[in-house]
Amino acid sequence: MKSLRINNGLIGKVVIPGDKSISHRSIIIPSISRGVSEITNILMSEDVERTIKAFELMNVKIKKFKKKIKIYGYGLNSLKKPNKEIYLGNSGTSARLLIGLLSSQSFDSILTGDRSLSKRPMERITNPLKSMKAKIKTNKGKLPIKIYGSQLINKKHKIKIPSAQIKSGLLFAALNTKGKTIIFEENITRDHSEKMLKSFGANIKIKNINNKTEIAIVGKRELKAKNIYVPSDLSSSAFFIIAALINKKSKIQLNQINLNPTRDGILRALKKMNGKIKIKNKQKINDEIIGDIIVESSNLVGCTLNKNMAKLMIDEYPILSIAAAFADSPSIFKGLGELRVKESDRLELIRLNLNRCGCYCKIINDDLYIDPTKKSKIKNNIIKTNFDHRIAMAFAVMGSKIGNLIIDQPECISTSFPSFVRQFNKIGGNIIET
Ligand code: S3P
Repeated sequence: MKSLRINNGLIGKVVIPGDKSISHRSIIIPSISRGVSEITNILMSEDVERTIKAFELMNVKIKKFKKKIKIYGYGLNSLKKPNKEIYLGNSGTSARLLIGLLSSQSFDSILTGDRSLSKRPMERITNPLKSMKAKIKTNKGKLPIKIYGSQLINKKHKIKIPSAQIKSGLLFAALNTKGKTIIFEENITRDHSEKMLKSFGANIKIKNINNKTEIAIVGKRELKAKNIYVPSDLSSSAFFIIAALINKKSKIQLNQINLNPTRDGILRALKKMNGKIKIKNKQKINDEIIGDIIVESSNLVGCTLNKNMAKLMIDEYPILSIAAAFADSPSIFKGLGELRVKESDRLELIRLNLNRCGCYCKIINDDLYIDPTKKSKIKNNIIKTNFDHRIAMAFAVMGSKIGNLIIDQPECISTSFPSFVRQFNKIGGNIIET
């Protein structure tokens, strides 16, 4: 795929697909509830399809329409043993959430993934589950994983790693576990699982104390089906927001975007960088805040972000780094260790590809330094993605400014945003699929 320079700015309305995190949970929770749930604006991407296929393999009936699905749930203990391994492709969210859910079922299962997923750490979820007496065999802490379904015991957990996937995996294990499981999170992370479980009638209580969260959930309580509207994804929006900020003569609008405060770090960061971003029509749907975002070309300044920001916007650093590359002063983004264990080592790929594009960038410990005042010529126009969708889309945006970048393995974009290229070109982008 080639990303070419654009000359006339990006103008118009962009259709952003449903939020990926909420879409996964909108399949998992209705599948173990009682009754029919209708899910609208669900993201139809490869990662989400993996979660759908996993539940179909466990005998859940899921009817698919264009942007909507219907799930027929038969309760907490209705899942059936899959007749083969569950393949989860590239999807870390599917893996960690399902490991939790499956460890408290009455049947055994095996989870596998693609090359990238098979390299990612799973002990962060299997170890706390083992403390609940889960029986899990990993391949040196990674996939493939065999889960011997069993009755777990409730426990009090303390999660040190900022990870909504760990928290959600434990919540799903607790649903089918007798008594009260307590999860204490040292860092606030996205809270879509708690919100949705509450609205499905789970016995769950959430306390926020000094930027830490304590969740108490009592298991063995049946959930009741409910319809869900999935708001559009802020992480996917970020590629367009930054493309409009850095390209002159741009003005775009993105409607009904999820603005959950546990996820909105990117908007706070861009505000610090003097980005012209307005939010209109804020409202609450299914306990999630949504609003329309209007963005105009801006003269960005660099900024320093501390490690607490990383928890509120971990997926947005690849594209934020592109914004930093076009600011008029240096930026420092601190505490990005978690970026090393995403779909790729994102920290290293940001550095490598920015350097290839002639932008000064270095990593010291887990901090990223970007200095746009020290620009040089493009050194190599091939962008290495290691099959990471967010690296591919971030550097496609870079191409709209510096021109002629070749993005390798562009098919990875379909894991989260299959219509990305179409939407980008519709508002004036110049990406050629080769
Ligand atoms: C996600 C949580 C985050 C995020 C991922 C989606 C989720 O991962 O990076 O894209 O849906 O719970 P971690 O839990 O590893 O931080």
